[in-house]
Amino acid sequence: VCLNLERFVERSNGIFGKSGTGKTFLTRIALCGIIKNRKAVNLVFDMHSEYGWQGTYEGDRDAVRGLKQYFADRVTVFSLDPESSRRRGASIDFEVKIPYSQLTVDDIILLQNELNLTPTTLETCYALLGRFGDQWFSRFLKMDSDAVTDFCDTNNVNQNAISALQRKLKVLAESCKSFLIDDSVHTVDVDAVKAIIGNLDSGKHVILEFGQHHQPLRYMLVANILTRRIHHKWVEKKERSLARRGPEPPQLVITIEEAHKFLNHELASQSIFGTIAREKRKYNVTLLVVDQRPSGIDPEILSQVGTKITCLLNDEKDIDAVLTGVSNASGLRGVLASLDSKQQALVLGHAVPMPVVVQTRIYDDEAFRTSMGLLPTANLDKLIKDDIATDFD
Ligand SMILES: Nc1ncnc2c1ncn2[C@@H]1O[C@H](COP(=O)(O)OP(=O)(O)OP(=O)(O)O)[C@@H](O)[C@H]1O
Ligand SMILES: [Mg+2]
Repeated sequence: VCLNLERFVERSNGIFGKSGTGKTFLTRIALCGIIKNRKAVNLVFDMHSEYGWQGTYEGDRDAVRGLKQYFADRVTVFSLDPESSRRRGASIDFEVKIPYSQLTVDDIILLQNELNLTPTTLETCYALLGRFGDQWFSRFLKMDSDAVTDFCDTNNVNQNAISALQRKLKVLAESCKSFLIDDSVHTVDVDAVKAIIGNLDSGKHVILEFGQHHQPLRYMLVANILTRRIHHKWVEKKERSLARRGPEPPQLVITIEEAHKFLNHELASQSIFGTIAREKRKYNVTLLVVDQRPSGIDPEILSQVGTKITCLLNDEKDIDAVLTGVSNASGLRGVLASLDSKQQALVLGHAVPMPVVVQTRIYDDEAFRTSMGLLPTANLDKLIKDDIATDFD
């Protein structure tokens, strides 16, 4: 079965299925297709470090190759946790540091569930922003109790709310201290966003490994901060190109795992990922959302998803979510519920003429390596043998 990749990348897409059905494997296959055929540049938020150098495999081998091993000179691996990348023997190209001044109130709002923040606490953030501008995070963390009381008096905010917020943000800063840097104290040499954009602009694919920082809180914070700024650049570029003052930005596909965390009903309007999904392909940016719980994604966002690749789902709510707005949904329900528990998927939407069930090809076997342009190992062995043979001739 042929996915029309051209049509695939021009809309946001989803890969769904319950745990262990092969979503990550399918995503890697889709990314390989996009890279090999040069249909877009990819930015992958690699929560569990499965895409860059190598991925885990439940079966007769420990690991499968990641995208870097397939497309060495066209993939750049960024890492939040270079120690862990090195331990896994992965080669990384950049270490990501994020300055405090790039943290906006929206980034904190996105974390309201994880941090258990109330609406009053969020208003407090805006008061701080109003007072300190982009230094708000760093200035706030440094306030002592007198300063907090003063701030409450002059800005008419609730003392309990602000103290609770300060405690939580201090914990956040502490848990992220290896990559979240107070730039009022230390200079951050390399702007990760600039480096990522530089790579994407030159046609290189970027994978950001989280290593030990895979907790939802850190993952969401970092993905949101980086994506907001990258998206901003893409909008600027696109507008310049429309005014004929510059080239078009390349088509960019952003892959996120655990997508419902960013795109649930409550947060979809606030997270940058919600914005991207809603504006369709207006600015040459689309999403590839990977999720085991599609019912957790805002229905409005799901309705923007162009092509859905769905592995086995058991939960009725998830099946409903995937099939909302699809014609012949009742027929397809049965199909979805009877898929194999691995490596089978129902594909529907923009990139296929009609819904089809596919057997996912085996990732990283010899046939796959050959079709991606890696030398088959047998040939390689033979070449080496020939080499040795000639040496002895
Ligand atoms: N295309 C494939 N080629 C080879 N093996 C596969 C393929 N798809 C799935 N598998 C097997 O199924 C296992 C689970 O796949 P995968 O890690 O992609 O699941 P997942 O849906 O991402 O799970 P989770 O939700 O827990 O992340 C793999 O470790 C591998 O053994
Ligand atoms: Mg997975």
